[in-house]
Amino acid sequence: MSTKKGLNLTLKIWRQKNNKSKGQFETYKIADVSTDSSFLEMMDMLNEQLINEGKDTVAFDHDCREGICGSCAMYINGRPHGPDTGITTCQLHMRNFKDGETIHIEPWRSAAFPVIKDLAVDRSAFDRIMAAGGFISVNTSGNTTDANSILVNKEDADHAMDAAACIGCGACVATCKNGSAMLFVGAKVTQLALLPQGKVEAKRRVLNMVAAMDEEGFGNCSNTGACEVECPKGISLSVIAKMNREYFSAKMD
Ligand code: FES
Repeated sequence: MSTKKGLNLTLKIWRQKNNKSKGQFETYKIADVSTDSSFLEMMDMLNEQLINEGKDTVAFDHDCREGICGSCAMYINGRPHGPDTGITTCQLHMRNFKDGETIHIEPWRSAAFPVIKDLAVDRSAFDRIMAAGGFISVNTSGNTTDANSILVNKEDADHAMDAAACIGCGACVATCKNGSAMLFVGAKVTQLALLPQGKVEAKRRVLNMVAAMDEEGFGNCSNTGACEVECPKGISLSVIAKMNREYFSAKMD
């Protein structure tokens, strides 16, 4: 009789050598996974098992492991970041799964996020969109401006803060049937457009960021709303409406 108390799982994981090669699902068995462990800890266990067996480990991205950096991109059982809502993969706990369950694990699937290896994808398209306008220019010489000298009304500050919660994980793109990055770009544009510090470059910013988004091959928004549902930070579709208003007003000038 088995004395194991943890979960015994079957993992079907997408394995792909690089962007040029064809990938396929490989099946792995893993035993005695604590329900208290995180999904990434379970993946660590699997990789230790593979090392002990002399096999190639599964590549996946992670960094902070506390829902901040946005790097732990994984499609789990057909949903970005797995079955729970409002969390990233690193915040997903194994108590969300049942003993004997089969779990399908895939990379973000988007033409703009090419696979590097296995579950790790290249999300540098987001960096290039940010470089196109996701910043403000400030004079760093002289004395620091007193924070209270630039007044921001409470409503704008709250909405800017909500938009600033975006961690650029790419779940919005991964879940979108069009591979659209408009929730991400909308969050960045909205955050800065609402604040006085962002107003100076507002028009240039939205035009350049939208142009960069299109150049990277992201699709258009068709208001399905899957991005809002799957966003681990609860970014609202309203940021897309705000971005569209900013865009058209910049175009009219
Ligand atoms: S590892 Fe940083 S958000 Fe998951």
